[in-house]
This record gives sequence, C-alpha cells and structure tokens, in this order.
Amino acid sequence: MVQCVLLGLPGAGKGTQASSISSARELLHISTGDMFREAAAAGTELGLQAQEYMSRGDLVPDEVTIGMLLERISQPDAIAGFMLDGFPRTLPQASALDEALAAQGTEIDTVPYIRVPEELLMDRLTGRWSCPECSDIYHTVTRPPKVEQICDSCLSSLVQRADDQPDTVKARLDTNREWTESLAEYYESQGKLRLIDGTGAPEDITRRILETLDATG
Ligand code: AP5
Ligand code: MG
Ligand code: ZN
Repeated sequence: MVQCVLLGLPGAGKGTQASSISSARELLHISTGDMFREAAAAGTELGLQAQEYMSRGDLVPDEVTIGMLLERISQPDAIAGFMLDGFPRTLPQASALDEALAAQGTEIDTVPYIRVPEELLMDRLTGRWSCPECSDIYHTVTRPPKVEQICDSCLSSLVQRADDQPDTVKARLDTNREWTESLAEYYESQGKLRLIDGTGAPEDITRRILETLDATG
C-alpha cells in the first residue's frame, strides 16, 4: 500500500501525474481542488463557500478543507492506498493529516515534489482545458484533445477553469509559493521528500515519479 502526497506549484502537473500514476499503481487519486469544483458545480454550501476563495486565488480555510479531506480518506476506496493532489497546502493541514493517519497506525510514505521553473507555469495554466465530468486535463499546445474542445475519455465538452485567467494565476502563485516551500521543508525533515524534475514530456515525469515510489518500496 502506498499513501503519498504530491507537492508542486499551480500548473506543475500534479493532476496530470496523479492521474497517470494512480492508474498505473491502482491508487485512489484525491484532488481537493476537484472536490471543491464538484461541490461548487453541484451548488452545495461547501462548494459555494469554497468558490469565493478559489476565484480570488486564495486558499479555502483549513477548517473546511481538513474535515473534507479526512472524511474522504476514511472511505473504503482509500484503504488500498491514495495519492493526494493539492493537499496538504498548509502546515496545519499537514499535521492534521499526520495525526489522523497515526491514529490508524499508518503514515504518508513518500512526497514527490514536482519542480518546474515558474516562468513555464503561466503558459501551462492559461492553455489548459479540463473535463468537468472526468477531470481529464488537456493543453491547447502540449496535449490537445483529438477533437477540439471535446474530452477524449468521456466525450464531454471541455472547459477552461475560471481561476486560469492570468491575474488569478498570479494570485495563486503568490498564495502557494511560500506554503509549498514550507511543506517541502516539513516533509524533508521527515525524510520523505523526493525532488522530481517536472520539465520535459509528461511520460518522462511519470517514469521519474514511479521510480521514486518503487525505490521507497
Ligand atoms: P487545485 O485544483 O489543486 O489547483 P492548483 O494547485 O492551483 O494546481 P493546478 O490544478 O492548477 O495545477 P496542476 O499541478 O494539477 O497541473 P496540471 O496537471 O493540471 O486547487 C484549486 C484551488 O482550490 C486552490 O487555488 C484553492 O483555492 C483551493 N484548494 C484546493 N486544495 C486546497 C487545500 N488543500 N487547501 C486550501 N485550498 C485548497 O497541468 C497544468 C497544465 O499543464 C495542463 O494543461 C497540462 O496539460 C499541462 N502540462 C502538465 N504537464 C506538462 C508537461 N510535462 N509539459 C507541458 N505541459 C504540461
Ligand atoms: Mg490540479
Ligand atoms: Zn472527460
């Protein structure tokens, strides 16, 4: 069983990689961003509350986020292992996760940190199209769908995320830069951090992460 956290700035490729790796290793891919977007689309109170923060590029408060994630990893489909994408994003989230896992006698095994020079992230995010149904991720230049604006996997119409406008991307990078470094230090001090070069073809990055997971056992 593998319980892992994927770290990386907005646009680093967390969703792209978590999707490939969770299929390759039969892990459950859990993205708190996707969970908030689904809740917003369904119009739940949680979703509407989260949307306010997301549209500004701010973090959704820990009180909301921690409870939602801990509830998700307590579900039966998470027992065989999971890959967290976008959680934790603050130190209180990281310690809440550690405490919850310790209470069950488990822990996070490995934390691949996907690193991409910041100047590449704006183009990645402003060119992204996503599937609102199955969360598949595309890019106008680097990963175009077979049919324009249609998801290869489920044939739904692709959408651009509201927070992928250049101003909001800047705000998201500002919000996440320091927290991501703090989390990297936190997991480094636990001996769990693994630096992954996030440049190059997505398949090469997947291979790098899989090698890291295999080396951890
Ligand atoms: P979230 O949805 O997690 O967004 P994010 O962290 O900003 O990251 P992204 O999803 O934008 O990027 P990614 O790393 O997944 O990249 P992707 O693979 O798509 O969170 C959204 C919001 O929700 C947050 O801002 C916050 O408000 C809230 N939130 C979520 N979790 C929270 C938490 N724990 N606490 C508080 N608030 C929370 O790739 C990006 C693009 O690049 C795609 O087009 C892709 O095709 C392309 N690409 C990928 N890999 C490559 C490559 N190797 N080469 C070229 N292009 C590539
Ligand atoms: Mg993502
Ligand atoms: Zn789809």
